[in-house]
Amino acid sequence: MAEVIFDADERLWLLSTATTSYALRLDASDAPRHVYWGPTLTLAQAATVRTPVLSKISSVDSLTDEELPVEGGSRFDAPSLQVRFADRVAAFEWKYVDYTVDGGHLAIRFTDRHYPLEVVLHYWVGAGTDVIERWTTLRHTGSDDPITLLRCDSASWFLPLRADYEVSHTVGGWSSEFRLQHTPIPVGETTFTSRRGTSSHQANPWLMVTSGDEVWSGALAWSGSYRITVRRTPQGQTSFTGGFGHEGLTWRLNPGEAWETPVFAGLYAADGADAASRRWHAYVLNHVLPHSDETRTIVYNSWEATEFDVSERNQKMLAARAAALGCELFVMDDGWFGARTHDAAGLGDWTVNRDRFPGGLDPLIAEVHRLGMRFGLWVEPEMVNPDSDLYRQHPDWVMHMPNRTRTTMRNQLVLNFGRTDVAEWAHKWLDQLVGQHEIDFLKWDMNRSFSEAGWPAESDPDRLWIDHVRHVYAIIDRLRADHPQLRIEACSGGGGRIDLGMLARTDQAWVSDNTDALDRIHIQHGYSRIYPARTLSAWVTDSPNQLTGRTIPLAFRFHVAMAGVLGIGGNLLNWTEQELAEATSLLAQYKSVRHIVQHGVQYDLTAGPVTAVQYVLGNETVVLAYRPAVNFGLPQVPLRLKALDPAASYTTGSSTHSGAVLMHHGLEPALPLGDYASTMIHLTQVA
Ligand code: GLA
Repeated sequence: MAEVIFDADERLWLLSTATTSYALRLDASDAPRHVYWGPTLTLAQAATVRTPVLSKISSVDSLTDEELPVEGGSRFDAPSLQVRFADRVAAFEWKYVDYTVDGGHLAIRFTDRHYPLEVVLHYWVGAGTDVIERWTTLRHTGSDDPITLLRCDSASWFLPLRADYEVSHTVGGWSSEFRLQHTPIPVGETTFTSRRGTSSHQANPWLMVTSGDEVWSGALAWSGSYRITVRRTPQGQTSFTGGFGHEGLTWRLNPGEAWETPVFAGLYAADGADAASRRWHAYVLNHVLPHSDETRTIVYNSWEATEFDVSERNQKMLAARAAALGCELFVMDDGWFGARTHDAAGLGDWTVNRDRFPGGLDPLIAEVHRLGMRFGLWVEPEMVNPDSDLYRQHPDWVMHMPNRTRTTMRNQLVLNFGRTDVAEWAHKWLDQLVGQHEIDFLKWDMNRSFSEAGWPAESDPDRLWIDHVRHVYAIIDRLRADHPQLRIEACSGGGGRIDLGMLARTDQAWVSDNTDALDRIHIQHGYSRIYPARTLSAWVTDSPNQLTGRTIPLAFRFHVAMAGVLGIGGNLLNWTEQELAEATSLLAQYKSVRHIVQHGVQYDLTAGPVTAVQYVLGNETVVLAYRPAVNFGLPQVPLRLKALDPAASYTTGSSTHSGAVLMHHGLEPALPLGDYASTMIHLTQVA
């Protein structure tokens, strides 16, 4: 049960989730000190938890376990809150004011002992999740000089003293996102960060810290630059702090002004990393995603087929093939607007290219709808090519700095969405586009990082890093509110901006431009450590693969893409009759199990050379198994299924199996000989 209780004598708060507890207390100086984060404790038990004491000989080293470690005093680790007052005085001195509890929301208010700065620590616990949301608000309560913020994290999470910890996280780049790493945590400060303006391909903003089967993890609900610092002191104290922005940025808090950080959500699980992933999935489905009860449709996206060479004719031909296969949503990608016949022109000019679509978009939309599919369109609202009418009219709309080169990447510059006029312009054309045409879906792309992120007219220019993201959020939120039928796919050159902030306002995510099925197994595995299959957009494309040149059988490509929201992205005009027939059958198979994949509970079954994933929903379960290479003629290792009823029987339609045997002995996946063997097994409980 999610609740917050306070022990006035101990000055201690206890937050309870379904299976965990979190406790903090005020110390004699009024500083909020971390007490406990782990399996459930009662209030009386929590009151007995004491911070480990250092030996006398090392008492010059203090243990810093403040809920939001500040700079100053005898604290020497990386601060979570770092401010400068107008007289250059640093540090913050805690003075407790009061607290409020509203449902599962606890807010504890402090002020500085001398300066007019209020700090509120927020905590939220909710029904059916062990995730605790935390964030911080600041307020300048004075009327004189501004306060400078150097670092203002959402939360700092402290872990118990343990001999060793390992951190799991994902790293990557374009077409290599979500590669899972496990590393022992060194003594020192380990920083996962993005200085790119997006949450980035390079380091997705989450981590899991593990000790044996225990997992403490955090995920940041922010889609811009961020910093998560893992601290491990020579004494073994371990914590992680995270928030928006990266080092070197400063923000100004003006008199009367309030400041709110994004949520840095935390989760403790006692039953291992795979179980922690399932808890994150449930949290994303129940508390983050809009419309998570919906089953996502099968998309056909024409990007890999036609790239910039789009026309009404070729899109209609592809749409006819896609509909015949059983696709339900047709998305026309880049190249439909302005002078965008290649990647060096037209971005920013969001009017349909009449050479390519003489009658505008409506004839294609009508045809797609006539074929029984929904219609979607690619947009990249935050960008402009220098070779565009928009840039010629508004060269000052891009992020830029005087006397500095405007660095292009993919021949484009970034519009400064921190500016309200630019954000309003973007909202207006998007609103008109969606309002004037029957558009059911947008793929919202963002293909490059910020550079020369200046804002010459603004006296507090580093605000751009925050305001840009907030305005992107506001535009998406407003579009969704005004066009309730609209569904949105998050994309940023593949998976460069997928996080809890983006997933709170989109329906699915394009996790990578890499559609090679073998690489995808790894990308999807890393992605699914935190984000659920219901959000994971995965296409079957042509073979050999455009990026890797690898040739992989159609069934294997399908089986990999079925571990998410299946889509098709190949050039169907080149597929043989036999391929089209096989694809039609595989697509129908996906439709018969997708409710289990998208709404079920996911288990990693990987055993030996076979990578396998299982989804369980009610009395049904589906297993997808892949063996890329056959080696040494070794026997197949049975896959030990999870979460079945040991007393029940399960049938595939052609064979019946005992639940106990499936779980304890395992299921022989019966993969054919040869490389790139794969299968899908759908079992239903019969008794
Ligand atoms: C990005 C996306 C691709 C495609 C192209 C279009 O790279 O990730 O899927 O939309 O842009 O230019």
